[in-house]
Amino acid sequence: MITVIGTLKGGSGKSTVTFNLAIWLAMAERDVAVIDADPQATLTDVLDVRREEGFQPMVELLDASRMQDRRGLLKREEVLIDVGTASMDNLRLAVSIADRVLVPVPPSQADIWSTQRFLRFVDSIVGKDRPEVLGFINRGDTHRAVRESDEAAAALVSLPGIRYLKPRLAQRTVYRRSFSEGLTVFEQEPRGKGAAEWNALAAVLYADILA
Ligand SMILES: Nc1ncnc2c1ncn2[C@@H]1O[C@H](COP(=O)(O)OP(=O)(O)OP(=O)(O)O)[C@@H](O)[C@H]1O
Ligand SMILES: [Mg+2]
Repeated sequence: MITVIGTLKGGSGKSTVTFNLAIWLAMAERDVAVIDADPQATLTDVLDVRREEGFQPMVELLDASRMQDRRGLLKREEVLIDVGTASMDNLRLAVSIADRVLVPVPPSQADIWSTQRFLRFVDSIVGKDRPEVLGFINRGDTHRAVRESDEAAAALVSLPGIRYLKPRLAQRTVYRRSFSEGLTVFEQEPRGKGAAEWNALAAVLYADILA
């Protein structure tokens, strides 16, 4: 299955999510490969750090040109593609070959608007059948008194064309720290809240692995 992690907005957590998901799948012994379709190359950089540190498991990074060959990619069990707006051509191509598109949505009105635009963008792409679009709250509030995440979640639930995933990732330093060391949140702090949130999200995305 080809899963594209994409948004029109920068800094929503695409590379963080792609990296954590890729290692999680590799740990679950899935045959997983990743494509860094963003010229900023953040995913490439974090995988370089991980390789240099010698952390296992590692995941194979495929060249972005491989997106031209959907059939070839489908020989792998799972392919994850990290793509933003730095290359609109890559974003268009990635969405056109995707089985599903995963959208991390930070809890702000601007991100909800941008998600709406992104859904129109997905609809405008002609190719194979429209991929399923899945959205979840990333960088959510950790304080109960702050209601932005709940409001954003409510807005996301009512957006047509996107399936809302209930597990949220909160704004936590462990995502930053682990990433800079080439580690996932569940390797960095396996018993932490970040890892627990992560596992809940991964379980929804790949229910078959845990069933
Ligand atoms: N849940 C989170 N909690 C805390 N920090 C986070 C979280 N998710 C992402 N970040 C941080 O936010 C920043 C942006 O994340 P990331 O690079 O994954 O986003 P992106 O969508 O790939 O950005 P770009 O559009 O620039 O490619 C990074 O510094 C990352 O560590
Ligand atoms: Mg990125």
